[in-house]
Amino acid sequence: MAAAEMQGIFYANSVICHCFDSPYSIKLMSDNRLWAGRFNEPTDAFVEAFTASVEFDQRLAPQDIAGSIAHATMLAAQGIISGEEKRSIIDGLNVIKGKIEAGSFPWSVALEDVHMNIEAALTDAIGIAGKKLHTGRSRNDQVATDIRLWLRDEIDHLSSEIARLQQALLKIAAPEADTIMPGFTHLQTAQPITFGHHMMAWFEMLSRDASRLADCRKRMNIMPLGAAALAGTTYPIDRDLTAELLGFDAPAENSLDAVSDRDFAIEFTSAASIVMMHLSRFSEELIIWSSAQFAFIELSDSFCTGSSIMPQKKNPDVPELIRGKSGRIFGHLMALLTLMKSQPLAYNKDNQEDKEPLFDTVDNLKGCLKIFADMIPAISCRHDNMRAAAMRGFATATDLADYLVVKGIPFRDAHEVVGKAVALCVGKGCDLSELELPELQQFSEVIDEDVFDVLTLEGSVAARNHIGGTAPQQVRAAIQRAQEKLDSA
Ligand code: ARG
Repeated sequence: MAAAEMQGIFYANSVICHCFDSPYSIKLMSDNRLWAGRFNEPTDAFVEAFTASVEFDQRLAPQDIAGSIAHATMLAAQGIISGEEKRSIIDGLNVIKGKIEAGSFPWSVALEDVHMNIEAALTDAIGIAGKKLHTGRSRNDQVATDIRLWLRDEIDHLSSEIARLQQALLKIAAPEADTIMPGFTHLQTAQPITFGHHMMAWFEMLSRDASRLADCRKRMNIMPLGAAALAGTTYPIDRDLTAELLGFDAPAENSLDAVSDRDFAIEFTSAASIVMMHLSRFSEELIIWSSAQFAFIELSDSFCTGSSIMPQKKNPDVPELIRGKSGRIFGHLMALLTLMKSQPLAYNKDNQEDKEPLFDTVDNLKGCLKIFADMIPAISCRHDNMRAAAMRGFATATDLADYLVVKGIPFRDAHEVVGKAVALCVGKGCDLSELELPELQQFSEVIDEDVFDVLTLEGSVAARNHIGGTAPQQVRAAIQRAQEKLDSA
């Protein structure tokens, strides 16, 4: 198979490999490999394509350039390169940045990755000074720095999307703080709750998600640069300065750890997996609630699709797809754990495989959060159906038991009394609140007219009046606290 054909296997639809018409007149094969000094033979064409990462890591170009500018600034401050060389490097990098942004940068597979593509273009553009940029660093500390810079920004974006979704939840919880619906355990009607309370449960899950991401961001904001290949460098570098220029909290303590650590990627995909697990649970509820059997909510048409064969269908495709996408994110977490599990210190080429799972996790999570935050405010509640469902499942049975306990009956006995009353209702096809007083009294003489206060759905929810309870008053207070939390974040 010809080399070009083999490369085509890898990059059939890609816009890279334009090295022949490069404005930087980049040369091909061995001449062009920045590490090829000791090599006598050209790289096998298939190996070249197989080992290259530029197709996907070119995405790190803005971070790579920012890292290089900080590195060059530090080299000049330390007298390792001259002020003039520094300026020439920074100007050259900014021109390259402009070309990349304009889509006119000639990415080359022969130059393997984003780092060597940019460095080669810089040298082509500015000459000797470009060759000095790599002094005191290695691609090993360079790539570890780039990914952290990139992920840091992405976490910031994801956190703001989570806050937007939380805001949407508050917006729909507030007007539904009194809306009665059945609460479920085992997907069987358990006790009445309010729709607002249910929305606020989702809010809490997302608060934990946001704090997990913030925690991950804090731990990853440590700078690998200066670790060089693995052991540090012989030049008198100032790592504190580079860290400060790049907004890192500190330089990494240990050079071996700095180049090989990918814990932050695993932590991130783990936090992302938990967000996706939550979104998948929300999705599942939206799917169930919008079915004809439940009919608790109506999803806006703009988040559903129809069926090509069944004209009556309105399918909840968006929540279904989000539920489905959780699988690929969990997969990425497993891929990264497995990628790292047997690697000896320090850097190994295995690590190049960290990027695609990470990129795909971020892209999909971003999309899911965005669409969720847009979809939630467009939900409408079908109050009558929720109420009717709460009526149907003996949702106030626990309230009757609690009533008996207050009147001096031990809980276990009360449980049995209520069980008998429920059996009577099942036979008659009615709700507990629809039994006559004498019918109830045959099970316990302590039952009085006031029992009907607790058997109503409103009485039941209002009675759970403590922090974290479903009483409308508590739900309103929880919404207010949540709003304050969001506003102060
Ligand atoms: N493309 C490489 C990666 O993503 C950059 C580091 C390569 N280092 C090396 N020693 N081969 O990990």
